[in-house]
Amino acid sequence: MKSLKRTRVTDLLKGDYSHFVGNDVNVKGWVRTRRGKKNIAFIALNDGSTIHNIQIVVDVVSFNNDELLKKITTGACISVNGMLVESPGKGQLYEIHASDIKLYGEADPEKYPLQKKVHSMEFLREIAHLRPRTNTFGAIFRIRHALSFAIHKYFNDKGFYYIHTPIITGSDCEGAGDMFRVTTLDLDNLPRKEDGSVDFSMDFFGKETNLTVSGQLEAELGAMALSNVYTFGPTFRAENSNTPRHLSEFWMVEPEVAFYDIDDNMDLAEDFLKYLIRYLIDKCIDDLEFLQSRYDSKVVETLSFVLENDFKRLTYTEAIKILENSGQKFEFPVKWGVDLQSEHERYLVEKHFHKPLILTDYPKQIKAFYMKLNDDGRTVRALDVLFPRIGEIIGGSQREEDYNKLSQRIKEMKIDPDDVWWYLETRKFGTAPHSGFGLGFERFMLFATGMSNIRDVIPFPRTPMNAEF
Ligand code: 4AD
Ligand code: MG
Repeated sequence: MKSLKRTRVTDLLKGDYSHFVGNDVNVKGWVRTRRGKKNIAFIALNDGSTIHNIQIVVDVVSFNNDELLKKITTGACISVNGMLVESPGKGQLYEIHASDIKLYGEADPEKYPLQKKVHSMEFLREIAHLRPRTNTFGAIFRIRHALSFAIHKYFNDKGFYYIHTPIITGSDCEGAGDMFRVTTLDLDNLPRKEDGSVDFSMDFFGKETNLTVSGQLEAELGAMALSNVYTFGPTFRAENSNTPRHLSEFWMVEPEVAFYDIDDNMDLAEDFLKYLIRYLIDKCIDDLEFLQSRYDSKVVETLSFVLENDFKRLTYTEAIKILENSGQKFEFPVKWGVDLQSEHERYLVEKHFHKPLILTDYPKQIKAFYMKLNDDGRTVRALDVLFPRIGEIIGGSQREEDYNKLSQRIKEMKIDPDDVWWYLETRKFGTAPHSGFGLGFERFMLFATGMSNIRDVIPFPRTPMNAEF
């Protein structure tokens, strides 16, 4: 086979190679379908660079290799040399008239699980090693990439520094206790102290450690020096929540900014979310339109709706009053002091205000220790951003910068000050007002793609009883 440099299907279809028409090109990829008549075969080839396939046309007689053509079935991987020509077919600018095909790997049609038909999302989760080869997951993973890049671009362009916060920590940022332990101790033969409890001084780090639930505490240390920072990494929660919105391993984007109060923080959150949506519509429209045609006919409309509306800002207390007077029967009853469930959040967004919301000033007992206490002594400067279809997409706050008040909260919430002595020191030395928030990346992906289950917007989902692949 003549050696030619590989071209990506997306570049060919975009017309980047229009000056190549009439010349030979090479493409490589996986066969989506092969159909044809006696004398002519059509192969739809996809290389993952775009939702669109390139059509390969084979003149069966002059190609003269039936043995090889027989093996070019759905799922097989091939390399094709052939002439780029303008396509007479509808919906495609170009096609390739194959002169030479090399078969890298066949895919026995009796055994290859991804035959040409619509598979259920549940089935595709069981073959997460192959599902990137479907149109749906190709689109989702390209969008995931584009949004990850947009996140870094947004913060970089705004002068934020990317801080790599640790994955193994000894602290529990959210105080919920839903942590995965990290240990090298022999579980069949644990070292014990005299009182019978496990002796973690014998563990790898000489102390109890876990996977982080949030990079915030360390990001705050960065903000107290570099002013504007963010972290974007994996976080882990061992809560036993089997819902379409919870993962045990998910990615969080956490900006943290010195000298920001809660209003600055809300402005940042709204601007950031709108930037990501604009970027998505701008760069990923082919993939979005595919997902829209297949899953949720309102994806682009909902994205535009969020772009065009100012987010409504109100306090938790005001929201509770609206819910109490709504006449709705909620599964979880509402009264001041309860944590809002997604049914309440979605009622407020979708039925009452018809726009994204930012709720602030939650009761201190349902929020984490680090949030700034309001003068009423009962509420904290928390903020949650609530989105249509999703409910909570961002959680954040202005932070308590007062050493005494923070120490008091730590005591009240029975946190061991020895675990967070370093965090407390930022309030001792050169403390400053500051704020930040965390965006659940997969929650945003759910919103962005119109998918209905969070397991379908991350390549390899981890949920209770599920860590295959
Ligand atoms: O509201 P959360 O718990 O806030 C924090 O962790 C703060 N330390 C963030 C900060 O201020 N820097 O989590 C933030 C977001 C939620 O709003 C939600 O979008 C997402 O993370 N999230 C989850 N996403 C998927 N699966 C889970 N189990 C999630 N738990 C939270
Ligand atoms: Mg939250």
